[in-house]
Amino acid sequence: MIRSQFPVLSQTINGHPLAFLDSSATTQKPLCVIQAMNDFYTNHYSSVKRGAYALSAQTTQKFEETRLKVAKFIDAPNENSIVFTKGTTESINLVAWSYGLANFKPDDEILLSVLEHHANIVPWQLLAKEKGVKIKVIPCDDNGDLQISELSNLLGEKTKIVAIANIANSIGTVNPLAEIIPIIRKFAPKAKVLVDAAQGAGHSKISVKNLDCDFLAFSGHKIYGPTGVGVLYGKPEILENMPPWQGGGEMIDNVSFKGTTFAAPPARFEAGTPPIAEVIGLSAAIDWITETGMDNIVANEKQVTEYALTELKKIEGIRIVGNPKNRGSIISLTSHIHPHDIAMILDEEGIAVRSGHHCAQPTMERFGIVATLRASFAAYTEPWEIDRLCSSLKRAVLIFS
Ligand code: ALA
Repeated sequence: MIRSQFPVLSQTINGHPLAFLDSSATTQKPLCVIQAMNDFYTNHYSSVKRGAYALSAQTTQKFEETRLKVAKFIDAPNENSIVFTKGTTESINLVAWSYGLANFKPDDEILLSVLEHHANIVPWQLLAKEKGVKIKVIPCDDNGDLQISELSNLLGEKTKIVAIANIANSIGTVNPLAEIIPIIRKFAPKAKVLVDAAQGAGHSKISVKNLDCDFLAFSGHKIYGPTGVGVLYGKPEILENMPPWQGGGEMIDNVSFKGTTFAAPPARFEAGTPPIAEVIGLSAAIDWITETGMDNIVANEKQVTEYALTELKKIEGIRIVGNPKNRGSIISLTSHIHPHDIAMILDEEGIAVRSGHHCAQPTMERFGIVATLRASFAAYTEPWEIDRLCSSLKRAVLIFS
């Protein structure tokens, strides 16, 4: 049983068993992840790379082994292509303020999609303002699928980076990156490709080699691990030529008031004491995913998502936003009732969903709405939770009719 491995999920909320349907915001943690962090703090705690003593040496080894584990998890060429950050947002900011600041010139272009999370929009807007760079946007159709036919018009010599999610957090579209990236290579040979895999890394097998992306970012807390740790993958030859973006301890080669030289990647991008316990937790989370089997996780999510789509479509007064060709385990809804009001009614019955714009206001604008109610699923989601969601939604529609 997967669900019983997640202690949080066994509780009741407002007298009802918790139906946790907000896994796109963050996933719950299996006991093995909680225990790994507890064990680290209880028995092994020390800093990394800074001590000649046994505890620090053991911790450094575990920390660096995790880098290798992450590299294998996303099929990266080696562990030096893995930078630990505090999350997807920081990973994207790192690329913007290191690679972007050093390489973009006025009139260069950044290509994003209309389905991006604010974390993959706002850093580029800040940089664009600083450097006089233009931002272009790949549109989507009414189903929520990106209009790939527009790519040849949007890409060109001036395109310096294309930053795109593999799964849209707001409406669940799985973007066909295996189709999109070769088109980028053809029409914008100088462009780098960054994949925002925040919603993808815990819900699909990722191979940065097969995708042939230049950068890929994801967060620990959305793949059953802790908050405060994330990953930036970068092709080694690109990271090698990027300047530091934050200065501090451990990212240097030599420091002098005459001039400072910097460490090779990944250390160059990891200034200060890193999130040590969180990296240990991330290691346990990847082990949990590997032992559970990504194929089994994906199969469960597919089953509950299809069941939810079928059942939700039967409820009068509910509209599902988007009907993408390929959907992740995310469903967004609207009705005549404000999503926050519905979310409060669901909470009375122990059902946790997210309501709002999901940090994707351009997507909301595209669909002519300001907010949705979003249900999102993970390895531990069970069909009874969908049944509870549907019966509470029916109740909400009745209350407000
Ligand atoms: N990006 C997270 C979400 O979609 C927070 O809920």
